[in-house]
Amino acid sequence: MSDAPHAQPADAADAARQTPDHEALSQALQDLMGDAEIWRPRILMSAVRLDVFRALAEAPAAPDALAARIGADPEGTDRLLCALKEMGYVEEGADRRFANAFVSRHFLDPASPYYVGSWFLLNDADWSAWGGLSDAIRTGAPPTGGGVFADPERLAPLLHAAHERARLFHLGEALQALDLRGAGSLLDLGGGLGTYSLAFCETYPDLVCTLFDLPAAIDLARAEIARHPVQDRIRLIAGDFTRDALGGPYDVVFMSNVLHGEPPESAQALVGAARRALTPQGRLVIRDSFLEDDGVNAFNGAIFSLTLMIETEAGRTHKRAAVKDMLARAGFGAIEEPTPKLIVARAG
Ligand SMILES: C[S@@+](CC[C@H](N)C(=O)[O-])C[C@H]1O[C@@H](n2cnc3c(N)ncnc32)[C@H](O)[C@@H]1O
Repeated sequence: MSDAPHAQPADAADAARQTPDHEALSQALQDLMGDAEIWRPRILMSAVRLDVFRALAEAPAAPDALAARIGADPEGTDRLLCALKEMGYVEEGADRRFANAFVSRHFLDPASPYYVGSWFLLNDADWSAWGGLSDAIRTGAPPTGGGVFADPERLAPLLHAAHERARLFHLGEALQALDLRGAGSLLDLGGGLGTYSLAFCETYPDLVCTLFDLPAAIDLARAEIARHPVQDRIRLIAGDFTRDALGGPYDVVFMSNVLHGEPPESAQALVGAARRALTPQGRLVIRDSFLEDDGVNAFNGAIFSLTLMIETEAGRTHKRAAVKDMLARAGFGAIEEPTPKLIVARAG
């Protein structure tokens, strides 16, 4: 009898032995149907978009009262509250007065320091773009509605979402892994709201950061940076890094989550421009989600690469080896990789 992988079972007993056990099938089915539950994130997007959690943080409310507060239909609001209760995001008290549950108080009330609601606002703003994913895969064409950087309605939640996420999950690791002592100037290229510039200036009292970003992003960054005492050490440049001069020279060029917005040729050009903007002993720090040789990584890098087909004109996650090649071609010297998300390259 052949032992090829697709060999037919000799008899029913063999067939039974080769049938996956019931528990494995049931688990696989549950996982599969879990991935079909699009309604849960969709309901949360609407609740955040309609300001439900902010309104309930003011005071618990019955459905009619909440509907009046958020300017929505009473019957629709009632159904939304019941769904959110079932999902564990609100709790119902006496007289059908609903209040934020633990998770919503901490993460969905905009007054909380741990607010992450911008992720739901971003997904909501991207909703129609997601409808184009099949076409994007079929044709390979850029998204018909354009990329997120050209649309202020999508750019604002993107930058707020990146800011919130970095502060909760990434800043600490980056600050720990990078030693910027001795650096006097840093270019935060595509710096968004200035999340990293703010943290670097707070950590290094002699450092001056220059945040370079698109004009619409710079307007948003100006408002965020003005709330922080280190604002005097953060300069702002509004421009397009694919066309405009980056200024300098700088001791450090820092690029976080920027390279994945560019296709390979333009990523190569950007790495070259960064090198030209550095002092001879300067360093380029690239922080990104790099794919390993098999095209995936442990941080959902392949899934992220697919989302970039609907969010950007031509972005993709780059392989770590490809980024190192870009650095070598741009003339960078020694390379260090202090964490899986960081590549640091010496200009000389
Ligand atoms: C994903 S965000 C990263 C923000 C921030 N560095 C972080 O890690 O949280 C990418 C940033 O690159 C900026 N960007 C994209 N294309 C640009 C361009 N052509 N010129 C300047 N900035 C650009 C966007 O506006 C955005 O702020």
